[in-house]
Parts: sequence; structure tokens; C-alpha cells
Amino acid sequence: MLMDKNIVLIGFMGSGKSMIARELAKRLNVPVLATDALAEAKEKQTIHEIFKSKGETYFRHLESGIIKDISHRRGIIIDCGGGVVLAQENLQILKTNCIVFYLEASPEVIYQRIKHETHRPLLNTPDPLGCIKELYNQRLPLYNQADYVIDANDASIEGPVVEILKRI
Ligand code: S3P
Repeated sequence: MLMDKNIVLIGFMGSGKSMIARELAKRLNVPVLATDALAEAKEKQTIHEIFKSKGETYFRHLESGIIKDISHRRGIIIDCGGGVVLAQENLQILKTNCIVFYLEASPEVIYQRIKHETHRPLLNTPDPLGCIKELYNQRLPLYNQADYVIDANDASIEGPVVEILKRI
């Protein structure tokens, strides 16, 4: 299949973006670029290390630069870090030549998925569920600016993959 627009996946940490992106890439035979992986490659540090040594503001600039660099490409899937929506400019750029899908999963579902993981600096707090709920509420209006909202609460990625394929 020839895609003239990119597919962009946005959504909260743990909403399944990376798994769904990889599955779409396989079915469509197109490359997937992950903003987190590109940031890590550029800095030669993990996300955790970047946050720790250079801070969140530095990371957000890095992320915006990556969005600018890759969004003009054609026929790719972009797996975005959960916070890309925080800069309105990122969303504007992405919506210009990409179809943006928001993978929606509830805070409780997200918490169950990520409670044993430690690589997400924003959730290394004594009350991760409370933190997820707070960030989720702040970001919901931003995520909802996507072209499509896809239900990603189910443990299986098949439903979201099929829904996305129907819309491109
Ligand atoms: C973040 C999400 C992470 C990563 C960083 C910050 C966020 O990406 O970019 O830890 O602000 O939501 P994932 O959504 O891929 O976990």
C-alpha cells in the first residue's frame, strides 16, 4: 500500500503506541520511527538519563526538533512519546501532513500496564496512579485534537490496528 500521509500515534504512556506502531508497520510494510528512540540515539543516553542530567525542558526541545525533522517525510509511521502534545507547535506540524491517531486508554488501564516498569521518569513517584490521573486530565484536551480517537483499553492490539487501517 502506498501511503501519501504519515500515520502518527499519540497517547499516554502505556497506551500501546509502540506495539501498535510496529504491527501497523509490519502490515503496511513501511518504516516506523519512534521519537523516544531517536532522542536516545541523538543524545546517546536513555530517556531516563536525559531527564536526569539535562531536565525535562531540554528533552521537550529535543522532541520538538525530532518532530520537525521527520514529519516532512512520506509513508512512515511515527510513534510519539506521550508528551509531544504539550507543545501546540508539534501538533500543528504533525496534523499538516500526517493522520494523527489518539490511542485512548483510561488511567486505571494505563496504571495496570505500567506499574512494574521503571523507565518512565515522570511516573517515578510515590503515587503513580494519582500522577497518571493528573497528567491524563491535563492532556486529554490536547490528545483530543487528533484526527481520530481510537479505543486502546483492550489488552489486544488487534482492535486498534484494524480501526486505524480502516481510516487510512
Ligand atoms: C513521556 C512519555 C514517554 C517519554 C518520556 C515522557 C510523557 O514516552 O517520552 O518519558 O511525557 O508522557 P512513552 O509515551 O512512549 O512512554
